[in-house]
Amino acid sequence: MRSLSTILVTGGAGFIGSNFIHWLFAQPEFTGRVINLDALTYAGNLENLADIEARYGKGAEASGAVPRYVFVQGDICDRPLVERLFAEYGVDTVVHFAAESHVDRSILGPEAFVRTNVLGTYTLLDVARQAWRAPSGGMREDVLFHHVSTDEVFGSLGEEGYFTESTPYDPRSPYSASKAASDHLAKAYHHTYGLPLTLSNCSNNYGPYQFPEKLIPLMILNMLEGKPLPVYGDGRNIRDWLYVEDHNEAVWTIMRNGQSGRTYNIGGENEWENIRLLERLIELVAEEAHLDIARLRGLITYVKDRPGHDRRYAIDCTRLKTELGWRQRISFDEGLRKTIRWYLDHREWVEHVRSGAYRAWIEQNYARRV
Ligand code: NAD
Ligand code: TYD
Repeated sequence: MRSLSTILVTGGAGFIGSNFIHWLFAQPEFTGRVINLDALTYAGNLENLADIEARYGKGAEASGAVPRYVFVQGDICDRPLVERLFAEYGVDTVVHFAAESHVDRSILGPEAFVRTNVLGTYTLLDVARQAWRAPSGGMREDVLFHHVSTDEVFGSLGEEGYFTESTPYDPRSPYSASKAASDHLAKAYHHTYGLPLTLSNCSNNYGPYQFPEKLIPLMILNMLEGKPLPVYGDGRNIRDWLYVEDHNEAVWTIMRNGQSGRTYNIGGENEWENIRLLERLIELVAEEAHLDIARLRGLITYVKDRPGHDRRYAIDCTRLKTELGWRQRISFDEGLRKTIRWYLDHREWVEHVRSGAYRAWIEQNYARRV
């Protein structure tokens, strides 16, 4: 029986990780503890978790309670640190989100991707393997390593077909190649050492706290600021979009009930050509922000394509639905409206992440207390 009580979340200050921590603490059945290990790269921001820190963090000590949320600023490649966290907190579960995650950045500078995504994942797996040895010599059975990955490891689809769990890997960007390597290492640790492991490959996420370099937040903010809306190539590349809360529920469902050694695809069953998505987003932003739709349409600008741009991603998530009973809950329009409203209400957050000013905010509000 999995314990799922002391959970090391890596990359918990990033987009999906911070949404996951919020989501998890909102689940009545979760009574455990989260240790959030994050290096706070450009993509990690502790403002995302200020409410969690206030409610479950160190402040709780004053009232005599053990804090249920602990933040540690650090690198997943730092083996002594990871070993210390396992020993000090008695980590029984890892959910591994930390990564370099943006394809365009991986094209400009692949090294950080290899380091964090490959070496960092290896470090976590290897520390887990050693920390979770059973006295009998095998592996403890009450532990779990959940590795969070992407559908991009499967490569690019043509007009037909879907990625299933048995689709051969065919990564084509430095980002997806580094994630593919991390997936292979994770599976190897299960097969070779018996590490209790589940793995998920998810399609494109969107929602609050996403760094405004990714398509949806970038387009929303450029519309609000009257800036060009850069569409790569012919705009006809297709992605399968999933609201981040649906991803988090899927991850937790797999962590609770997924079979060890098994991979689960997670998807929105919601394919959009980029240009069609942008047209819909323009309609919704015009409504939500009371902007002139013709002016927004006029901002669409076709730009040079991304090198090696994958044409189409589409996930078949039948396994997750039939075996574990998961379903998407948030429709695309509903998710996009929530996301637009969030960005409208969090202009200061946007300023901070863009300028790096959030680092000063962390200094003032947080870091000295960590
Ligand atoms: P993100 O870039 O928003 O956040 C990554 C987080 O990891 C940041 O907080 C960053 O500070 C942290 N980090 C980076 N390097 C680190 C290191 N060496 N040590 C410790 N922390 C480090 O990414 P995201 O979009 O939240 O993605 C999270 C995970 O989900 C990734 O593994 C990604 O591959 C996967 N994924 C993302 C999507 C998507 O659409 N965003 C889809 C499928 C899978
Ligand atoms: P992105 O959000 O970077 O996710 P990924 O490349 O991991 O799927 O991009 C989503 C799609 O949008 C992808 O086909 C590239 C395209 N795109 C643009 O057309 N313009 C942009 O400015 C960005 C960031 C992406």
